[in-house]
Amino acid sequence: MPELRVAVIASHAGSNLRALHRASLLADARFRIVLVISNNSDSGALRYARDNAIPARHLSGRTHDDPDQAIRAALVEHAADLVVTAGYLKKVGPRTRAEFSGRIVNVHPALLPRHGGPGMYGEHVHRAVLDAGDPVSGASVHLVSDEYDTGQVIGQIEVPVQPGDTAQTLGARVLHAEHTLLPDVVRRIATGHPEWRAPASADR
Ligand code: GRF
Repeated sequence: MPELRVAVIASHAGSNLRALHRASLLADARFRIVLVISNNSDSGALRYARDNAIPARHLSGRTHDDPDQAIRAALVEHAADLVVTAGYLKKVGPRTRAEFSGRIVNVHPALLPRHGGPGMYGEHVHRAVLDAGDPVSGASVHLVSDEYDTGQVIGQIEVPVQPGDTAQTLGARVLHAEHTLLPDVVRRIATGHPEWRAPASADR
């Protein structure tokens, strides 16, 4: 089975990118990161990619009139099999979604379907979990569909809420858990694990 070619799109720190890249270097990984895209020229994700000799592109409304088209073209050019959005604060555009239908996954810092949708990012998510009094939070990896955070969930990890948690302390533990979940899910996809039932995976 050939290695799965993974592209990562990220806006900020890129700690999920780092976790995924480290996992890709393990002998039995069966996937590798072939491209990193960021809409933020100053992102930790782009710096990490450049420092680790991973092809990296800054693509945004500043660099291109039609960033969706530029992103789609870059992903096609690098023959990405799977696209991972990890802390990408923009919506993946319609051309990219159409080209990579069923092959774009996002990591979200809550147990979807709870606490997803527009405006639910970063600390907003963890504050919502605490305000709701949820005893357990966690992270989800889901397929990207037309609406924010609504696609099929393909992996989750639980993180218990602790007494005295703040959005920051809970967020830090959830982020740490994402670093386990995301490589795990990508490994499952790369090895054709039966739990990975994304529609487009059947004929690939
Ligand atoms: C993560 O919590 C992810 O779930 C969310 O944004 C954060 C990204 O962190 N969408 P990083 O850039 O991977 O460090």
